[in-house]
Amino acid sequence: MKMISQSFISTCFVLGVASLSAAGAFAADAAAGKTLYTAKCRTCHGADGIGNPGMAKALSAEIKPLGSDDVQKKSDADLKSNVTAGVGKMKPIAVAGGDLDNVVAYIRSLKK
Ligand code: HEC
Repeated sequence: MKMISQSFISTCFVLGVASLSAAGAFAADAAAGKTLYTAKCRTCHGADGIGNPGMAKALSAEIKPLGSDDVQKKSDADLKSNVTAGVGKMKPIAVAGGDLDNVVAYIRSLKK
C-alpha cells in the first residue's frame, strides 16, 4: 500500500513539473501581467479588477469587474483591442507585445 501511494505521488510530481515547464515556455505570464496591471490599470479597475467606484463616477462610466462573465466572455483578441484601441469611456492604453499577452493572462486569472 505504501509503495503504491509513493509511486502515485511521484507520478503526480513528474506530471506537475512537466505541465509547469510547458506553461513557462509557451503561455503568457499572469504574474508579470499583474505587475503591469498594478502600474497601468489599477487606478481605474481597482484591486483584482473589481473596479474603482470613484473613478467610474468621475468618468461617468460603468466599470464592470474584469472577472465577471460579461468581460470574461470576450475573446483574447477583443480584450486586447479594448486596451490598445480603447472601449467606451476608456482611452487607448499603450501596451503591446508580450506585455499585452501577460495582462490578458492576468485578466483571465480573475475569472470567478
Ligand atoms: C483612466 C481609467 C482607466 C484605465 C487606466 C484603464 N481602464 Fe480599462 N476601462 C475603463 C473604463 C471607464 C471602462 C468601461 C468603458 C465603457 O464601457 O464605457 C474600461 C473598460 C475596460 C475593459 C472592457 C470591460 C468590459 O466591460 O467589457 C477592459 C478589458 C479593460 N478596461 C482593460 C484595461 C486594462 C488591461 C488596463 C490597463 C492596461 C485598463 N483597462 C486601464 C477605465 C480605465
